[in-house]
Amino acid sequence: MTRLAARLGLELPLLQAGMGAVAGTALCAEVSQAGAGGTLALYKERPARAARLVRAVATATARPFGVNVVPEVTGPAACLEQLRAVLPELPPGGFVTSFGLPDAEAVRAVATAGHPLVVQVGTLADADTALGLGAAVLVLQGIEAGGHLLGRLPVNRLLAAVRARHPHAVLAVAGGIATGRDLAGAVARGADGAMAGTLFVPAAESTAHPEFKRRVVQAVADDTLITSLFDIGWPHRPHRVLRNPLTITAERAPATFIATTRVDGRDHPVPRYSAAAPGDTTTGRIEEMAMYCGRSCTRVTARHPAAVTVARVRRQYESARRTGEGSPDTPGATRTNRTEEPHRIQER
Ligand SMILES: Cc1cc2nc3c(=O)[nH]c(=O)nc-3n(C[C@H](O)[C@H](O)[C@H](O)COP(=O)(O)O)c2cc1C
Repeated sequence: MTRLAARLGLELPLLQAGMGAVAGTALCAEVSQAGAGGTLALYKERPARAARLVRAVATATARPFGVNVVPEVTGPAACLEQLRAVLPELPPGGFVTSFGLPDAEAVRAVATAGHPLVVQVGTLADADTALGLGAAVLVLQGIEAGGHLLGRLPVNRLLAAVRARHPHAVLAVAGGIATGRDLAGAVARGADGAMAGTLFVPAAESTAHPEFKRRVVQAVADDTLITSLFDIGWPHRPHRVLRNPLTITAERAPATFIATTRVDGRDHPVPRYSAAAPGDTTTGRIEEMAMYCGRSCTRVTARHPAAVTVARVRRQYESARRTGEGSPDTPGATRTNRTEEPHRIQER
């Protein structure tokens, strides 16, 4: 058992990323039941609805699960309101994951409620700060990752730098993980586990739009790119998405409404270049929306129930750990961890 699994009470040292429009109650509960770290995305959820969602997961799984906040999107005050609403509903053993650094008040709220805090960072400096704030687990995100990017380093370089400075910290990596062999490779390089997002986008229980699921299954790594295009609602943060008609056009089109997403019986218009991903209640020009996707998509080839995916990753992981496959010294290890590509941020 790795330190990540022990610290969060998991059978497999794998966290499912909290993903706005994708990781709802069903995905979170299924991943948790299967023995990995199911996580509910709170993203822009209002506090009362967020509390309801956490209660729903708690009734659907007896195993640990997490809730995910994105303070840089909500702002610190709204993030604290979300936390104050959900923490009383989170069963003992549950955890909180934060995309980027939370402020001291949010950290205190989580600590007072007695839950471990998992902070995702993309730089060595932010890793130092998160540990200083009292994070129990760090998720080190590399530029291979799908979604918004917290740094500019390939994941293995970030892991090596943080591990060298913090030999005893509990570290998971994010970016490039889609198989048990990828996970074993990360552990062999000094991680205590990993977080995967793209792997779970096409899951049966994911609330991603069917077209988004289809494209992730079909895509290979080079169908993704880093851009700053989808900045409405989440500015100043480059993100890795699937190429689409907007990412290949030189001129920025008007930010008129191109789609609608229904939440709790109410329609929310989606402007072109919105940061919102298409969910299963979105209608409109889905192909123009931000479909966040990591380079690991090459190895995401089917839509399965999440339990099947977790069981397969577990089998592959245990076999790779037994045979030493996936360790940095075995042939093929670099082939399954494609971090070498020199990435350029497409600034448009
Ligand atoms: C569709 C999608 C949505 C995401 N939304 C969030 C989010 O709401 N909160 C968050 O902490 N991270 C989010 N992420 C980023 C993940 O936390 C993580 O860094 C990433 O999924 C790891 O790379 P991978 O997708 O290649 O596994 C998202 C990623 C994807 C693919």
